[in-house]
Amino acid sequence: LRDKYLAAIADAGDEAALEALRVSAVGKKGEISLKMRELGKMTPEERQTAGPKLNALKDEINAALSAKKAALADAALDERLRGEWLDVTLPGRGAARAMGSIHPVSQVMDEVTAIFADMGFAVAEGPQVESDWYNFDALNIPGHHPARAEMDTFYMARAEGDDRPPHVLRTHTSPVQIRTMEAQGAPLRIIAPGRVYRADYDQTHTPMFHQIEGLAIDRDISMANLKWVLEEFFAAFFGLEGIKTRFRASHFPFTEPSAEVDIQCSWVDGQLRIGEGDGWLEVLGSGMVHPKVLQAAKVDPAEWQGFAFGMGIDRIAMLKYGIPDLRAFFDSDLRWLRHYGFSA
Ligand code: PHE
Repeated sequence: LRDKYLAAIADAGDEAALEALRVSAVGKKGEISLKMRELGKMTPEERQTAGPKLNALKDEINAALSAKKAALADAALDERLRGEWLDVTLPGRGAARAMGSIHPVSQVMDEVTAIFADMGFAVAEGPQVESDWYNFDALNIPGHHPARAEMDTFYMARAEGDDRPPHVLRTHTSPVQIRTMEAQGAPLRIIAPGRVYRADYDQTHTPMFHQIEGLAIDRDISMANLKWVLEEFFAAFFGLEGIKTRFRASHFPFTEPSAEVDIQCSWVDGQLRIGEGDGWLEVLGSGMVHPKVLQAAKVDPAEWQGFAFGMGIDRIAMLKYGIPDLRAFFDSDLRWLRHYGFSA
């Protein structure tokens, strides 16, 4: 009996087999247990020799069972450790997952913001769904003004009985001028980057695009300050010292006088060269803030004046990186991003 069980225990391959052995040997109805029950029928002499033998056998089997159980658990742990073994000194297998990257428009926005921050301009923001008061009226564009039609405005639908003022998708970042002057008063120096919307679509226009608004209000700001700030900016942004700018008299309802600003460029073999030659490329609108605009924003025009400008971010990104079609910016095509070095 002893040899049979000890051999079987040694051979047991897993815990289930071991448990079956335990039941058939020392379980309630196990072979050894039954033999112990028979002790009652023996004579006292017989019992005296058989009793201790059986007890010793039971102890030995129990000990063998628990030793084997521990050995099986050890083996299982070893097996798991072998499977999960990790060599932390191995070199990596390279990026298993492609890494994201910052979109070129966001990159340019960050660059522009950093350059103006160096000149003391803080960042301001406003909502993209804007009331027509901030987008138009406060900027001296009353209801009948042709500029409203020219801007290809997206109007927000209004439910029957909705008595909130009409809202639009902002057509430019200029409403942030009003909001910031209202909130902070004068003097101030801010830029406001963000998304703007116009119903327009071709190679150089998308219904959503990006602008950066600039506004500087103080007691004696002039067009000369505007010119200096913009020339500093273009030199820094394109990395071209002494890049020439051209101010062309223009008209915006919210600035007086107004100027559109071009930068020097030329076309060589179908390639655009910034800062060379005798061509010009329009990059922004600007001017001295109209007194009516200051008034609308509760800033006293008798005491304060300033300049404002609005620049197309996508436009200058196209120029800087030589990208011919604006629409590609918003197609989310990774091959395009890689081609222009914007993604790994
Ligand atoms: N808001 C004008 C536009 O979108 C640009 C501009 C801004 C012009 C500030 C003058 C001053 O065309």
